[in-house]
Amino acid sequence: MMTPLDLGPPQQQAAAPGGPSRVTLHLGHLPSKKPDTKATWPRSPTRVDPNNPPWPAYRGYHEYSFAHATMQSRLPTILGKAIEDTTRTLNSQSSEEKVIDLASCIDRMGELMTDLSGNAKLRPIIDDNEADVALWNKEIAKYFQGKDFMNAPWLFAEAYKYRRLHECFSISKFWSDYDVFYRQKCDTFSRSSDAVFELSMRFAEPFKISDDLSAEEKEEAERLMFLELTQVCLWGNSTDLSLLINMTEEQIKALQSTGGDHLAATEKNILGNDLPRLWETVKVLREKTGGRVDFVLDNAGFELYCDCVYADFLLQSGLANQIRFHGKRFAWFVSDVTKKDWEWLLNTMVYGQLFPNASDTEMESLRRLGARWKQYEKEGKWVYEQHPFWCTGYTFWELHSEAPDLFLHLSRSDLVIFKGDLNHRKLTYDCAAPASTPFEVAIGPMASAAGAPKIASLRTIKSDVVVGLGPHGDETAEKLDETEPGWKISGKYAVVLLSEGRPGEKVRFA
Ligand code: F6P
Ligand code: MG
Repeated sequence: MMTPLDLGPPQQQAAAPGGPSRVTLHLGHLPSKKPDTKATWPRSPTRVDPNNPPWPAYRGYHEYSFAHATMQSRLPTILGKAIEDTTRTLNSQSSEEKVIDLASCIDRMGELMTDLSGNAKLRPIIDDNEADVALWNKEIAKYFQGKDFMNAPWLFAEAYKYRRLHECFSISKFWSDYDVFYRQKCDTFSRSSDAVFELSMRFAEPFKISDDLSAEEKEEAERLMFLELTQVCLWGNSTDLSLLINMTEEQIKALQSTGGDHLAATEKNILGNDLPRLWETVKVLREKTGGRVDFVLDNAGFELYCDCVYADFLLQSGLANQIRFHGKRFAWFVSDVTKKDWEWLLNTMVYGQLFPNASDTEMESLRRLGARWKQYEKEGKWVYEQHPFWCTGYTFWELHSEAPDLFLHLSRSDLVIFKGDLNHRKLTYDCAAPASTPFEVAIGPMASAAGAPKIASLRTIKSDVVVGLGPHGDETAEKLDETEPGWKISGKYAVVLLSEGRPGEKVRFA
């Protein structure tokens, strides 16, 4: 049976208009490799670098890993759809100058498709005046000279593909900001009406606890609300577009169900669960009259909407007094949030007509919620940021060395919440660490460097790396490998992991 993740062999996929009719990678010359269990892991920190993670890297030619399916089938399919989207835009243009310019972008996408399907070597990024070019080219020159899409670590090769996709447009005259995934992102939110209104009808009215309750009862009510909304925020991540490509509206609805009973049932799928510790952490913030909480965002549309519902609650309950949201500067891993997606969400909630079948009360609840969020922005209680580092190939082990300004900035936060699978892969170096590895060990300097903030990772599991499952985690993972072979990519399981960091210590850079 085909799962939603299974796009089938490349030769069976529908041809993308404008793209090659058939995408086949020739891998015969590459060894099929299982992780090297003989070497001693983890590597000592001085021997760790982007091509040599602390535990074995996942690489595209590792047929046992999701890296292989992604590099061989998913990325060419995603690129084919991007070409399709751009061709649609091209066909709607009238100005000759713009048409010619966009046709060149499509040609460059064709070249990228050839490189990807022919497993070309990774070349430097063309200088398009983006602030990340130097970081990309330094990393390629230092660690990936002569490497190709399949033998470079998966994380780097996949990020590189999205950077090359951006380059197809960034060097153009008229289309430098074009987002090939924008249509898809808007469309999926508009098809999420049930869950969208379930939340807006509940949370449009500002959060208030009855004055008749005792102090203990109030705290308990708040704790329950916190746990529920943390789960809403967590499971909002199971609906990213790169994996939803084949899902029906019904399947999306089932994934997005947010009811209380549903959440109680899904808590057992949180395999590494620091939710109780997370509550203790945020409670302390209120004693300091509210803290600063940062969200390193993942996906636009419904997930971002869930993040905002959660952030709204943190503010209203006094657990935080400022929220800083970190998004991407350009289209990234299909569904990640850009500034345009952020603005679109807030504006469509207040002014849009996205949901023709909604009742007046439902539309009003959405408008009220959106208006409140826009007001937070005006008052500086919500701040949207987009540091160039988030769209590089570096993992977050290198954040303090490659983006010291960003590290310093985050070190001033009381809690940094990383959303989603890709951020989790970057936190953990995307390597084959045992599932029992403590989260604080797996994230290296993000936990141990002086000034490292408290970090929470809210991630539904959609790729190979799994850590933080506790002392018996290896057995849990082995059992799931036997009983549910696709458990690491289904999005059915999740982790909520917390690192205490070393806040309050002076940050020093070498
Ligand atoms: O292409 C693989 C991947 O990067 C996986 O990590 C994950 O399945 C998806 O794409 C992105 O997930 P998320 O949006 O949660 O980071
Ligand atoms: Mg994403």
